[in-house]
Amino acid sequence: MKLLVIILLMIVSLEAAAIKDVKMTSMTFVIPTEKDTIVIQRNCQWCHSYGYILNQGKQSKEFWHKVVLKMRNTYKAPISARDEVLATEYLYRHFGN
Ligand code: HEC
Repeated sequence: MKLLVIILLMIVSLEAAAIKDVKMTSMTFVIPTEKDTIVIQRNCQWCHSYGYILNQGKQSKEFWHKVVLKMRNTYKAPISARDEVLATEYLYRHFGN
């Protein structure tokens, strides 16, 4: 039993030593600030970063509407009918083609 505890402690301390050398990269995705940025903040940032939005590139209004609907219908994000419209318009304004 003692041996087991010692081995476990060794494993834990070895892991701690390994973790010290790991450098975590951190990336902040910034979206344009305007009157409706808050709509995106309250609906879109608590499951994933804005990177998901930025990585799509310039897209049509229909594309963005479908994204908002997918977040609500497939992933169950509680997006109101009003925010559905405002978020789609915001996304198209800044990331529209
Ligand atoms: C309830 C959690 C949740 C919320 C809230 C949410 N998303 Fe997502 N989103 C997801 C998940 C889950 C994925 C898929 C992740 C994966 O495939 O790795 C995703 C993927 C995406 C993608 C990648 C493209 C795609 O179709 O999969 C985009 C763009 C996106 N979300 C935009 C948004 C926008 C805009 C909002 C706000 C209107 C939002 N998300 C809110 C859960 C959420």
